[in-house]
Amino acid sequence: MDSLTRDPRAPIDPAIDSPGREGLTGTAPASMYAPAVEREQITIAPDFAPADAQPAWRQDFPIDWPQDLYVERRDFLKFMVLTSAAFTAGQAWIAAQNWYRRQRGQPPVQRIAGIDDLPVAGSLGFTYPDEHEPCLLVRLTTTEFVAFSQKCTHLSCAVIPRPHENSFFCPCHNGRFDLRTGTPTAGPPRRPLTRVVLERRADAIYAIGVEERTV
Ligand code: FES
Repeated sequence: MDSLTRDPRAPIDPAIDSPGREGLTGTAPASMYAPAVEREQITIAPDFAPADAQPAWRQDFPIDWPQDLYVERRDFLKFMVLTSAAFTAGQAWIAAQNWYRRQRGQPPVQRIAGIDDLPVAGSLGFTYPDEHEPCLLVRLTTTEFVAFSQKCTHLSCAVIPRPHENSFFCPCHNGRFDLRTGTPTAGPPRRPLTRVVLERRADAIYAIGVEERTV
């Protein structure tokens, strides 16, 4: 049967590379041949055992460059996958926090003190918006009041008002915040104190909200 009449779907003679047919090898499909392996791709283990008989640890610590590069690529891929997963988890956490804040709704309106309860440069502790959040009300002048969370923005120690130094002082690491604005002025804190929004109604001071700030 010549090549013009041969059925192309007929199985190919596996003896295609027999010595007598060397001249025909160019006609065989590529799948007939084992894939070519470059010399430097071949790993010979120190004990000359085949690759699938080697201990698992040897695959993580290859002795040849190609395998070593393969392990580096694999580790890099792992790193990228883990980094992406951590980033995604962080975004999900932020979204959950925002959702939780929205669910909590508006903070309550809460009376803190009467105007005459506090002398100028005096301070008063209270909790707001719930009993777990200690805050400080400070009277700056006869007409000006400020209030901030008492939690230091470094590691949450309780800050102490020092009106004569115009600051809140954190004794844990000597942090300081401006008395009027709550912005950090010394020590490790980098973020301002959480501000309590105040409103004067008749002869009393009320807390009406909380303002978290990053700068
Ligand atoms: S906890 Fe306030 S300065 Fe560190």
